[in-house]
Amino acid sequence: MANVIVIGAQWGDEGKGKITDLLSKSADVVVRYQGGVNAGHTVVVNDKTFKLHLIPSGILYPDKECIIGSGTVIDPKVLIQELDQLQALNISTRNLLISQTAHVTMPYHRLIDKASEELRGERKLGTTGRGIGPTYADKSERIGIRILDLMEPEVLREQLTWTINYKNVILEKLYNLPPLDPQEIITEYREYAERLRPHVVDASLKIYDAVKRRRNILFEGAQGTLLDLDHGTYPYVTSSNPVAGGACVGAGIGPTMIDRVIGVAKAYTTRVGEGPFPTEMVEGIGQILCERGAEFGTTTGRKRRCGWFDAVIVRYAVRINGIDCLAITKLDVLDDLDEIKICVAYEIDGIRTNEFPSNARQFARCKPIYETLPGWKQSTENCRTLEELPKQALDYLKFLAELTEVPIAIVSLGASRERTIIVEDPIHGPKRALLYANGTPVA
Ligand code: GDP
Ligand code: IMO
Ligand code: MG
Repeated sequence: MANVIVIGAQWGDEGKGKITDLLSKSADVVVRYQGGVNAGHTVVVNDKTFKLHLIPSGILYPDKECIIGSGTVIDPKVLIQELDQLQALNISTRNLLISQTAHVTMPYHRLIDKASEELRGERKLGTTGRGIGPTYADKSERIGIRILDLMEPEVLREQLTWTINYKNVILEKLYNLPPLDPQEIITEYREYAERLRPHVVDASLKIYDAVKRRRNILFEGAQGTLLDLDHGTYPYVTSSNPVAGGACVGAGIGPTMIDRVIGVAKAYTTRVGEGPFPTEMVEGIGQILCERGAEFGTTTGRKRRCGWFDAVIVRYAVRINGIDCLAITKLDVLDDLDEIKICVAYEIDGIRTNEFPSNARQFARCKPIYETLPGWKQSTENCRTLEELPKQALDYLKFLAELTEVPIAIVSLGASRERTIIVEDPIHGPKRALLYANGTPVA
């Protein structure tokens, strides 16, 4: 029995969807614990591409129970579209369960998200515009509407009428937008409620039951460590806690029920939206990484900013999440490069540091200090063991493990399930020590 959290160790889009799908094979239950439809997780199975925003990536296996936990925010319109798309592809969604205490994204959240970005002007965050921040803000302000409210037509009518009248003041007076019609939204959301009703449960209880029955549970993070509201590059972050600690809160279970944490990191770095990014390369190699890695957002289609691997932030992610081992994805994207740089430390105001500065203004002044390794200049996509990798690629991975101070359990060399090297079973294999000897992974 092992309960495992899969988290992003950078700024999101690390390939969590692919790794969760891969690991779901040995899980019984897959749980999403935070975030909303800002997430876009791509899973490629038998040449079919699935783009999931809220539904856990385990849904592609017919026998897995998939749970959308209490810490998420649910846009029912998008969730229903996602259900329809999966059903059209003959993927059963019968095993999908939705927490009744998750909060609901409403039309005014989407409107306020976009309008506030506009009002911020140069201070905009580059959000996905999916209403995520405003939904979590209402949760904190204690005026949010939860799935359980959606399920009771009279409660929904009463709460939505009050809330929309309240929001209309903000829409009209602050953003100069037309007011919303409560009745229209009540009717729309009552329809969504009927569609979702069969899936709604007490998710924390279901997860606890699964723990007691010694089921294997996989917790799928959305976004990434550097987008965490508390521990990321604030204010350029999302409004939830993607870090491993967030899994306990968002799923409604205790930390004693977690066995391990797997961090997913790209072999380079990307970021969507605004905010500091020390290793970013706007032109040249940055452009090459963007093209070879097809770095365009799954949710918004925006071009992702690209740069070299930043070992300082991944080592920080190891600390903040208690990562046991890493899954390194998209190594194949580096196949043709002559040489590859890795950021090993930063220089801040002339002083070298190995640590991620939690002061955002200092982080914005960080200059990367690089070490350069030779490229391997050959395709790795058909390698299935570490031994089959070119020596330079293996040296690159060993250097990443050494710098981040954790073993690498999985290496991904393509979007599909097959294009993967399992160095060591990350769920049932030995924890840390055997994989990681004297700072290098045992090949
Ligand atoms: P997530 O949000 O962390 O699940 O990541 P996304 O799905 O948004 O972005 C990762 C993208 O890279 C997707 O299009 C994946 O299909 C793709 N991908 C995942 N692993 C690999 C890999 O090892 N190599 C390549 N070339 N693509 C990959
Ligand atoms: P997955 O799960 C990458 C970014 C946005 C923006 C910031 C705040 O696919 O890795 P929000 O809409 O959440 O208020 O936007 O966070 N962002 C992501 N970047 N991957 C994601 O999810 C993201 N979800 C949000 O681009 O910078
Ligand atoms: Mg994504």
